[in-house]
Amino acid sequence: MSKPKRKRKDRQSEDIDEIPRLAKTKPLQLRYYGDPVLRKRAEPVQEITEAEVKLADDMLMTLYDTGNGIGLAATQVGILKRFLIVDIGDTDEEKFEPLLLFNPEILSYEGESVAEEGCLSIPDVRADVKRPEKIVVKAMNLKGEEIGIETDGLIARVLQHEIDHLNGTLFIDRISGLKRQLLRNELKKIQQAEHPT
Ligand code: NI
Repeated sequence: MSKPKRKRKDRQSEDIDEIPRLAKTKPLQLRYYGDPVLRKRAEPVQEITEAEVKLADDMLMTLYDTGNGIGLAATQVGILKRFLIVDIGDTDEEKFEPLLLFNPEILSYEGESVAEEGCLSIPDVRADVKRPEKIVVKAMNLKGEEIGIETDGLIARVLQHEIDHLNGTLFIDRISGLKRQLLRNELKKIQQAEHPT
């Protein structure tokens, strides 16, 4: 997911000094709207091997390199593993550690909220999306341990957006047909664009 318009200190690729192991990584190629991989369902990860650790590092680097990303699913770099990362950055009041989650599963939902979303795979398109406000998620961390997360607000929204990606769903699937019609030309442009490789 890309950043909503709000004040946050984004982590960017220049900040990799904070995460020394990222020094060896380089950003992966993002996949864009129209790429069939974005419509595929990703497969569960059985165990954490070196390949998963490398994927995590590469995806963090890819996210920070965008400059405005706050979440990324493996599907968006063409890898059909159930893995996602979320890093909404820090505010003055709050520190936030990146979430790196394998096989995330939403156990329960509560409430409802509407907020504007964007997606790194659908550049420059933004729309209001209605989602549950609060969720409980079960997942496996980078150490292979099962963890539970209860969250609301922006983190809950980004998590739901990225879990959607793992199921081949995009945020534009969750807006009304009429609104999607209005975005038709922009979507077509992204589909036909030559993306940098
Ligand atoms: Ni997205």
